[in-house]
Amino acid sequence: MAKSYKPRKSDKFAFGVWCVMNRGRDPFGVETRPAITGLEAVRGLAKHGAYGFEYHDNDLIPFDATAGEARKIVAELKRIMKSTGIRATAGTTNLFTHPVFRDGAFTSHDPEVRAFAVQKAMNLLDLAADLDTRVVLLWGGREGAEVDGAKDPVDALQHLRECVNFLCEYIIDRRYPILLSIEPKPNEPRGDMYLPTTGHALAFIETLEHPFMVGTNPEFAHVKMAGLNPYHEYAQALEVGKLFDVHMNGQKVGRFDQDMSIGADGLKEIFFVCKLLKDYAYAGTVAVDAHPFRTEIEPWDFVDRCMCSWRMLIEKVDALNSDREYRQLLGPLVAQKGPLAAALGQYTAANAAKLRGHAYRPDKMAVRPLPYERIDQIVNEVLMGVR
Ligand code: NOJ
Ligand code: MG
Repeated sequence: MAKSYKPRKSDKFAFGVWCVMNRGRDPFGVETRPAITGLEAVRGLAKHGAYGFEYHDNDLIPFDATAGEARKIVAELKRIMKSTGIRATAGTTNLFTHPVFRDGAFTSHDPEVRAFAVQKAMNLLDLAADLDTRVVLLWGGREGAEVDGAKDPVDALQHLRECVNFLCEYIIDRRYPILLSIEPKPNEPRGDMYLPTTGHALAFIETLEHPFMVGTNPEFAHVKMAGLNPYHEYAQALEVGKLFDVHMNGQKVGRFDQDMSIGADGLKEIFFVCKLLKDYAYAGTVAVDAHPFRTEIEPWDFVDRCMCSWRMLIEKVDALNSDREYRQLLGPLVAQKGPLAAALGQYTAANAAKLRGHAYRPDKMAVRPLPYERIDQIVNEVLMGVR
């Protein structure tokens, strides 16, 4: 790897430990890589220069571990964190693997399943507080349906709201400095999942008791699965101060959840996400949520490559933002000032009268140049390294 693309702490790269623990199993084939434990994954990530790691409770602590076993694991994890400096940047509760969650956790019909899910999430919040994790993700792996005749989505959303409200109160009660982040996904593993896109998540958040505690972490692959534009999705969360984390990877549009490395597909699209985060000084972690190709027999080329690609994207963002021709073309477009632009900024009867009385020249306005072909070509030239 070229030296200058090595990760820096200031890049704030984080990886899901589940990404490097992924063994290449898919619905049609068995594992192709040997198992590594969560602790080994954290050690390896630290060695490869990651700033942080994200985890599910059960990536670190097996579902059926005793309290004593859990204590031992956490103590060892803390030793690794202390000696390497790697941080536990985000945590989440696995509410999708065990068959008890086969028809949902927070949205299950069964109130006992919902309560058990909340109990598991409270335990995760305790662990997160202990590890100084500040963001806890809510990815509703099994929160969805295949059979619409069997589940009312209005009921499901109400159950979900009740559970999230309860967890917010728990965080407040315990005085944990933790924010919750909803990760939208349109489908897989469920036929349809609740809160499928960023917009759904944002609308739902506003209906909570404590909306300020809850944000969202869009994932590039999930956005592309829905056929949407990641740049716009991330922007919508960022614009309202709700971009609490980001999950990055590569993905072909409309396919199954491929979770490929950063840049493996959708280079131009992820470039614009990178540009958005840079342009608006996003201060959170850049979390990779992907997995090595099944053809890999160990995960470290994948880890290095994702960070390297992101660093190259940052370099390209800087190149575009400082490109003289690009600035010359874009500058006048975004800085246009019409005589009535100020009137739009505030509704007053006088401004409304001014607007109504103005004689527009739509034919003239319609022929103002918009040099978008040229702008897009400059973007491509920057990305292809020919400028
Ligand atoms: C696995 C999902 O594939 C991923 O997108 C999600 O971020 C994590 N679980 C967190 O729950
Ligand atoms: Mg994710």
